[in-house]
Amino acid sequence: MPKSNAPIVKAVIPAAGLGTRFLPATKATPKEMLPVVDKPAIQYVVEEAATAGLSDILMITGRNKRPLEDHFDRNYELEEALQRKGDESRLARVQESSDLATMHYVRQGNPKGLGHAVLCAAPHVGDQPFAVLLGDDLIDPRDPLLRRMIEVQEEHGGSVIALMEVDPAQIHLYGCAAVTPTGEDDVVRVAGLVEKPTPDEAPSNLAIIGRYVLNASVFEVLRKTAPGRGGEIQLTDALQILAAEPALGGPVHGVVFKGRRYDTGDRGDYLRAIVRLACEREDLGPDFRAWLRSYVTEEM
Ligand code: UTP
Repeated sequence: MPKSNAPIVKAVIPAAGLGTRFLPATKATPKEMLPVVDKPAIQYVVEEAATAGLSDILMITGRNKRPLEDHFDRNYELEEALQRKGDESRLARVQESSDLATMHYVRQGNPKGLGHAVLCAAPHVGDQPFAVLLGDDLIDPRDPLLRRMIEVQEEHGGSVIALMEVDPAQIHLYGCAAVTPTGEDDVVRVAGLVEKPTPDEAPSNLAIIGRYVLNASVFEVLRKTAPGRGGEIQLTDALQILAAEPALGGPVHGVVFKGRRYDTGDRGDYLRAIVRLACEREDLGPDFRAWLRSYVTEEM
């Protein structure tokens, strides 16, 4: 499979899921807009893409997702009001999200699964490799993952997925990879993938997390992928086919991530993300940590 020399600049962010784990908060509000401290979760994801050099972002949206578009657009009324008050620091914070990247949107219509959401990006992406970032998966900005995945894709061609070791009892919540080592500590060759296996079926404790750098051949495979688990078109099923048949679109490698990651679509992880990030903030952290310490010692 020929490797492309053009830098990867396009990112796709699927954000059309129903967010059922967060009902009723997500009845009329996209789960990606839920605040993590004082920014919506999705802004961290777009900032991560921009930091990795991805300047063209396509968000896959659906019903109730208008606030996502509004958040990354200018809000002149609010900006003018802050300007009149001379509130420069809040003005800068409001403008931040509209200056991150060139944003595009496409609607998925019917949320038929993550694989189907990625397929909606085919006309925009064309035939170059591209990144996929799940809108509810938050990677701590101090633990860069995407840049490393892009490097690995540029070196080996094909596709690259992000893997993380999880407790074997939790593997049934994730896609799971069968892998072989490479010469590099943090990189494995992916031999096979299985979506949400039972602990007996799981070939490893390496779970797929929400970052991908994909060869555009994945679209052709997705077009032919039948609905799998849960009646949805699964991205993992398409990647399993690519891993088994490298002639279709190059090999599949995995970058094993050891940094901090939060699944903000899960209520427990969402709360942990807020507490941790709030504790580490220069402005809020000192007061919040002191309160948390006394709360834990006196009230728990
Ligand atoms: P999830 O498995 O978290 O599903 O999707 P969900 O519907 O968003 O949330 P729950 O499980 O009902 O609470 C993983 C990612 O894939 C996107 C979601 O937006 C999320 O970023 N997705 C999923 C789509 O864009 N379209 C789909 O049809 C399904």
